[in-house]
Amino acid sequence: SGIYRNGALGQLPAVPVSPAKLAAKARQKMSRRAAAYVVGSAGMESTARANRLAFDRWRIVPRMLHDVGTRDLTTELLGRTLASPFLLSPVGVLEMVHPAADVAVARAARSLGVPMMISNQASVPMERIAAELGDSPHWFQLYWSSEDDLVASLVSRAEQAGAEAIVVTLDTHMLGWRPRDLDEAFLPFARGQGIAQYTSDPVFTELVKQRAKQGPTGKRPAPTPAAVATLASMSRGYPGGFMSNLRSPLPRAAVETFLDVFSRSTLTWQNLSFLREHTTLPIILKGIQHPDDARLAVDHGVDAVMVSNHGGRQIDGAVGSLDALPAVAAVVDGRIPVLFDSGIRGGADAFKAIALGATAVGVGRPWVYGLALAGTEGVASVMTNLLAEFDLTMGLAGCTTLDEISPETLSRADSVD
Ligand code: FNR
Repeated sequence: SGIYRNGALGQLPAVPVSPAKLAAKARQKMSRRAAAYVVGSAGMESTARANRLAFDRWRIVPRMLHDVGTRDLTTELLGRTLASPFLLSPVGVLEMVHPAADVAVARAARSLGVPMMISNQASVPMERIAAELGDSPHWFQLYWSSEDDLVASLVSRAEQAGAEAIVVTLDTHMLGWRPRDLDEAFLPFARGQGIAQYTSDPVFTELVKQRAKQGPTGKRPAPTPAAVATLASMSRGYPGGFMSNLRSPLPRAAVETFLDVFSRSTLTWQNLSFLREHTTLPIILKGIQHPDDARLAVDHGVDAVMVSNHGGRQIDGAVGSLDALPAVAAVVDGRIPVLFDSGIRGGADAFKAIALGATAVGVGRPWVYGLALAGTEGVASVMTNLLAEFDLTMGLAGCTTLDEISPETLSRADSVD
């Protein structure tokens, strides 16, 4: 109602309220490369479209004459009572979008009490972000490195920095095929952007030293065909070839080391015990889409799963994330929380995800657009608008608590495809 009141007083919101206008205005504000990175998805971007279409398949059936004068948006999650069921999904390389990057996001997260998932690819070391967050809830998102020592180090730093959970992103053990980035001859990590968690890490620093001693050729595994295509594309814009034109002050060895240790595509369920031995924090698996994987997650004792397809940035032609949610929720059957992201753009989207079994929902691109346009204030207003719209949707649908947002509040619109 504050938003309407301000409107009546002639005050324009800090960022556009309309999701389409928000995205369009942010796209104009960002550099070409930043826009390609943020907006882009995998391949023909059909998964990103599927994410949105999945929401259209469900319609809210409102109930009337319920007393909805007071609504309670709180949700219990991993031992915390959260003010709302919204989360900030982890987004890397924010320095491309705004100079204050993750620090600006942390300030917004804290002002709203919305949990922030600190990205493994953040532009600012996690300790600095955590200091900004204070006692506001935050989790650390991990990309499982090929070096176990580095995994252990990142996790122990996260614990020290007050993270309340470790979110392991499973869907990015190889970077997706993202034509917009490839056309811009751009992979930010290869330019030394988004690797602050590594360059601030003692184990990583040691690996860099070893690599520097080996000299420029080193002992690197043969590149995959995808890597060759990526490198060829990247060096197009740089006459001296790959990485010769790094604007980053980082030594080349650091970037090369990062490219080597970033991920592990041989990771299996067996590796999870390593993480369990190295942390007492709850473990959340992000990127679950198949109900059998949800079952395995429960069997392996993880504390929560996050149904996500990385905003459609990994596999082209994949199932819409919301389409994957009901089967996962059915298998999990309330034993652990089921979180959700990929495609949330409005309050009704959050309502539908919760109705289909999500405990809380993550938001990705929308708040990044807010950051691009107006820093901390932009992130805060995007999230405030989502919260306000969600609260309104609840009330108008006849619900006063999240528990009341059951599957019965929805009907399936089978004709939509
Ligand atoms: C991401 N995402 C992501 N996920 C993750 O686990 N670690 C990361 O560093 C990043 N980085 C990242 C950068 C950018 C620019 C985007 C758009 C996304 C995925 C993110 O956490 C989330 O799953 C999706 O963004 C959700 O989809 P929507 O809300 O963007 O549709």
